[in-house]
Amino acid sequence: MRTPDHKHKPRLASGAMFSLLLGSAALVLLYASASFSSPSASYTFPTNEVPLALPAPSKDLHPCSQCHDASWKTNTKERPLKDMHDDISALYESKATLHPWCLTCHDAANRDMLRLSDGGLVPFSEAFRVCGQCHGEQFKRWANGLHGKHTGSWNGQKIVHLCGHCHSAHLPKFKAIKPLPPPDRPVAGEEKASAPGEQGKAGHKEK
Ligand code: HEC
Ligand code: HEC
Ligand code: HEC
Ligand code: HEC
Repeated sequence: MRTPDHKHKPRLASGAMFSLLLGSAALVLLYASASFSSPSASYTFPTNEVPLALPAPSKDLHPCSQCHDASWKTNTKERPLKDMHDDISALYESKATLHPWCLTCHDAANRDMLRLSDGGLVPFSEAFRVCGQCHGEQFKRWANGLHGKHTGSWNGQKIVHLCGHCHSAHLPKFKAIKPLPPPDRPVAGEEKASAPGEQGKAGHKEK
C-alpha cells in the first residue's frame, strides 16, 4: 500500500533537485561558451555594407616580418623598448595609453598579424575584432550603426568606417578639446540678414 505523503515527497524533491542541477549545469555551459569567443571574432558585414579601407601603413615598418622573421626571438617581457618603436613604447612608460602591453594585440610568433585572446589571428585590416573583445558595448553599437560612421545611401550600399579611422590603437584617448568662449549673440536690428556664406558675420555685436 502506498502512503502518499512520506513516500512521495522525497521523490518529488529529488526530481526537482535533479532538474535544478541540470538547469544550472546548462547555465554554466552557456556562460562558459559565451565567455570564450567574443561576437567580434566571428562578425560578418551585412551584404549591403563594405568596410572603408584603412590608410596605407608605413612602408618602412610593414611587413613587420622584415625584421620579426622566423629567426626573431620574441622577448615577451613587458619592458620599455629602446632599439625600435620607442615612440609607441614611450606612451606606455608615460602611462599616456590606457591599453595593455603590445603582445595583447600583436601576435608574438607572427608579427604581421594581430591576435585575439583565444589565440586566433586577425589581419591589421580587421583590427575591430581585437578591439571588440574588450569594448563589447561600443562594438555592438558600431555593428548596429549607432557608434562610428556610415556613409553611402540609406537604402543601398553603406560604407562603414572602422575603429582605426577614428581611434589610435596606441593612444585611444582623444585629446581634450580646449573650451572656447561661446559665440557672440546676434543683436536684433543691428544689421540685416547676411548674404549666403556670410552667416554668423552680420548681426554680431562688434567688440
Ligand atoms: C626595422 C626592423 C623592425 C620592423 C620593420 C618592425 N620591428 Fe618590431 N621590433 C624591432 C626591434 C629591434 C625590437 C626590439 C626593441 C627593444 O627590445 O628595444 C622590436 C620589438 C617589437 C615588439 C616587442 C616584442 C618583441 O618582439 O621584442 C613588438 C610588439 C613589435 N616589435 C611589433 C612590431 C610590429 C607590429 C611591426 C610591424 C608593424 C614591427 N614590430 C616592425 C624591429 C622592428
Ligand atoms: C590595443 C591593441 C594594440 C596594442 C596594445 C598595441 N598595438 Fe600596435 N597596433 C595595433 C593596431 C590595430 C595597429 C594597426 C594600425 C593602427 O591602428 O595604428 C598597430 C600598429 C602598430 C605598428 C605599425 C605602425 C605604423 O606606423 O604602421 C607598430 C610598429 C606597432 N603597432 C607596435 C606596437 C608596440 C611596440 C606596442 C607596445 C609598446 C603596441 N604596438 C601595442 C594594435 C595594438
Ligand atoms: C585587452 C583589452 C583591450 C583591447 C583589446 C582594446 N582595448 Fe581599448 N581600452 C581598454 C581599457 C582597459 C581601457 C581603459 C578603460 C576604459 O576607459 O574603458 C580602454 C580604453 C579605450 C578607449 C577610451 C579612451 C577614453 O577616452 O576613455 C578607446 C577609444 C579605446 N580603448 C579604443 C580601442 C580600440 C580602437 C581598440 C582596438 C585597436 C582597443 N581599444 C582595444 C582595453 C582594451
Ligand atoms: C567615425 C568615428 C568612430 C568610429 C568608426 C569608432 N568610434 Fe569610438 N568613438 C568615437 C568618438 C567621437 C568617441 C567619443 C564619444 C564621446 O566622447 O561621446 C568615441 C568613443 C569611444 C570609446 C570611449 C567610450 C565612449 O563610448 O565614449 C570607446 C571605448 C570606443 N569609442 C571604441 C570604439 C570601437 C571599439 C570602435 C570600432 C568597433 C569604434 N570606437 C569606432 C568615434 C568613432
